[in-house]
Amino acid sequence: MTDDVLVVHGGTPLEGRIRVRGAKNLVSKAMVAALLGDSPSRLFDVPKIRDVEVVRGLLGLHGVKVTDGAEDGELVFDPANVESASTDQINVHAGSSRIPILFCGPLLHRLGHAFIPDLGGCHIGPRPIDFHLQALREFGATVDKRPEGLHLSAPNGLHGTKFALPYPSVGATEQVLLTAVMAEGVTELRNAAVEPEIIDLICILQKMGAIIKVHTDRVIEIQGVPKLHGYTHRPIPDRIEAASWAAAALATRGHVEVLGAQQADMMTFLNVFRSVGGEYEVTDARAPKLGDPGQEGGIRFWHPGGELNAVALETDVHPGFMTDWQQPLVVALTQARGLSIVHETVYEQRLGYTEALNSMGANIQVYRDCLGGTPCRFGRRNFKHSAVIAGPSKLHAADLVIPDLRAGFSHLIAALAAEGTSRVYGVDLINRGYEDFEAKLADLGAHAERP
Ligand code: EPU
Repeated sequence: MTDDVLVVHGGTPLEGRIRVRGAKNLVSKAMVAALLGDSPSRLFDVPKIRDVEVVRGLLGLHGVKVTDGAEDGELVFDPANVESASTDQINVHAGSSRIPILFCGPLLHRLGHAFIPDLGGCHIGPRPIDFHLQALREFGATVDKRPEGLHLSAPNGLHGTKFALPYPSVGATEQVLLTAVMAEGVTELRNAAVEPEIIDLICILQKMGAIIKVHTDRVIEIQGVPKLHGYTHRPIPDRIEAASWAAAALATRGHVEVLGAQQADMMTFLNVFRSVGGEYEVTDARAPKLGDPGQEGGIRFWHPGGELNAVALETDVHPGFMTDWQQPLVVALTQARGLSIVHETVYEQRLGYTEALNSMGANIQVYRDCLGGTPCRFGRRNFKHSAVIAGPSKLHAADLVIPDLRAGFSHLIAALAAEGTSRVYGVDLINRGYEDFEAKLADLGAHAERP
């Protein structure tokens, strides 16, 4: 008998207002960057999610003192006493997150060696780290793969390099940034990822004293500096969480205001949301002044009534439609009239969750072909990475088991949209990336409880 289950009574539109804080996929990297400074860093709007706890634990093991600041969500990192941690201590965090791989460059700079545990993260394909290791070797690191994890050293220091990524990987781009900023000489990275979270990480590194130029055509040039200091930073809001709640509003025929959501980072999502038939309104933030309390910015998302439209979409690196927006939106697409097509081009196995939706009455077929878009890396490799969603389908309740973070949220949305009572198992996984999601569900009037 498990208590990791949420009982969801579906069929009620989500109505209300919630707030998103700093982006999970920036905050965790900003925490790693604090290791590079020779003075304390201060990060605001840090959500209470599992990934943050894992990185906090790893930083602590390496001698970084992490304390809560005065403001809710503020963390202060003091890297004055960075030290080695034992393999056993580090391995406590094995399998819990993918962020540890980004400790390589900072630890090599600070200690001359690093141990990285086995990685975790969502099971959405093989998720290799070959680009990371290739880049680190180009900088002059030696990498020793052992059963317990990776041992790295840099006997002759780290040196700038010219490197082109085979694919604009987010993590590998961050790896290069976090290593190049203090490597001797100039690094030129071609085919870099340029997601807003990466630009925000560059802003943080620049605040710390780094010299980083973002050129056109995915080229980033970094001039190494011998020393960096701490930063003070308020991160970009979580555009994946914001889109997830928007999709939930659409799928349940509801109305959700997401405070903190930012239009500029979500343009591609907003275009698709409107094409599907959803409505939204952007509220700009206004600073308080005499006689005016000011206002917090955000985006209001709602289902205007009537039918939704089928769409064809393809996930892609920025500025394309994010792979992490795909699963939540597909639930809403089960309610659209006609055939929607989704071509997943970032991860080869990110459509497995559609089986659970089919068990609830959806009509989704997955294909090995590159449907509706340009051929991608997976077309000839036998991966089921395209989906055709025929709608509208009446969803009914089911018992569901959450396979990974974003698919998990889509299961939750499906249970909220379905008629009847569903049991969603493994919901604790959602805490990896969605702060206080159960409290937010309650704020939006959802009928869900732990048994
Ligand atoms: N890839 C390789 N070799 C590598 C690195 C990546 O082949 O060494 C491939 C991957 O297998 C994948 C593609 O490149 O097919 C893109 O992977 P990327 O490195 O960009 O992803 P990531 O850095 O591991 C981050 C986010 C993911 C998000 C992707 C894409 C974090 C912690 N994770 O992953 O977020 O989907 O970028 O935007 O930042 C999530 O939040 O649920 C999540 C999975």
